[in-house]
Amino acid sequence: METNEIKAQVKKDFENVKNNVELAQVSAKYNGKNGVITGLFSAMRELTDKEQKSKAGKDLNELKTLAEQLYNEKELQLINEQRAKDLSGIDVTLPAYIIAEGHLHPITKTIEEIKAVFMRMGFSVEEGPEIEKDYYNFGALNFPKEHPARDMHDTFHMEDNYLLRTHTSPIQVRVMEKNKPPLKILAPGRVYRRDAMDASHSTVFHQVEGFLVDEGVKFSDLKGTLEVFTREMFGKDLKVRFRPSFFPFTEPSAEVDVQCVNCKGKGCATCKQTGWLEILGCGMIHPNVLKGVNYDSEKYTGFAFGMGVERVAMLKYGIDDMRLFFENDVRFLKQF
Ligand code: FA5
Ligand code: MG
Repeated sequence: METNEIKAQVKKDFENVKNNVELAQVSAKYNGKNGVITGLFSAMRELTDKEQKSKAGKDLNELKTLAEQLYNEKELQLINEQRAKDLSGIDVTLPAYIIAEGHLHPITKTIEEIKAVFMRMGFSVEEGPEIEKDYYNFGALNFPKEHPARDMHDTFHMEDNYLLRTHTSPIQVRVMEKNKPPLKILAPGRVYRRDAMDASHSTVFHQVEGFLVDEGVKFSDLKGTLEVFTREMFGKDLKVRFRPSFFPFTEPSAEVDVQCVNCKGKGCATCKQTGWLEILGCGMIHPNVLKGVNYDSEKYTGFAFGMGVERVAMLKYGIDDMRLFFENDVRFLKQF
């Protein structure tokens, strides 16, 4: 058979293909193991006349290329026909469903960032209950009964000596009761106080507690740890200061202020004209707290701190009013 005749036959065969089964059959007929073109290639190799052989080789390659091309075209045609069938009855001009992309709330994001900094320093994360016993929130933390220090935390009381925890410090006691030192713990959570809402206070807010207990822990370890934290969180540019303070469960005690982002220290409504925002309280864990959980307070010492997450977020993102975090205005939340 002349290759031209074969070409015509190949074209006709592929044209007549109506589905994938037929496509496979036609493909096998020409290119299969026992296919026409495969056979012609074997026959060509038998030829002895060089010129004849080279011409036959050229013709056969053309034929092979043609068959491949026809195969590909037919395959595409079948796919398109199937797709058209699948879409028949569907209005593809209808608008698509918009899948809304979620955002982490800036407070959640800030807690995650705080956790990341301390986890790099080897702290592990624990949690405690929001409905807490008076004992863990105050008693075990060395707040004497009827002591005015309890007034610093205006408390939501509940029945049977339960209350809404006013800080994350009770987690210190819960973790120490169950574990032996050394300990290196971070404990984030929601806390409640009967504080009036303003630019830097909320009734419900978040704290992250951190504490470390081991032999030979010193105040300088606390200071170094918090300096790493403020540098990683705010960079080197914001001014930070340590200020002596008082907590019943630490001695000595301090508070850390960061220069107000809003007024850069000049004084404004955000910082109540002080130029500073207090972000955390801290100190060396009081021996009475250690004794209360049966730790040898001669052998072990520790430091602890508790920071306000909303305040950290305000400084980190340059936000001048805490209430923005709780109003859930999408235009605000979208920016994080
Ligand atoms: C405490 O709550 C102590 N438990 C902190 C502590 C832990 C001291 C461990 C020593 C050792 P204070 O009441 O100052 O301390 O609150 C800690 C931080 O929470 C404050 O620095 C501030 O950043 C934040 N904060 C306090 N009250 C509010 C409030 N009403 N709204 C938002 N943030 C607040
Ligand atoms: Mg304070």
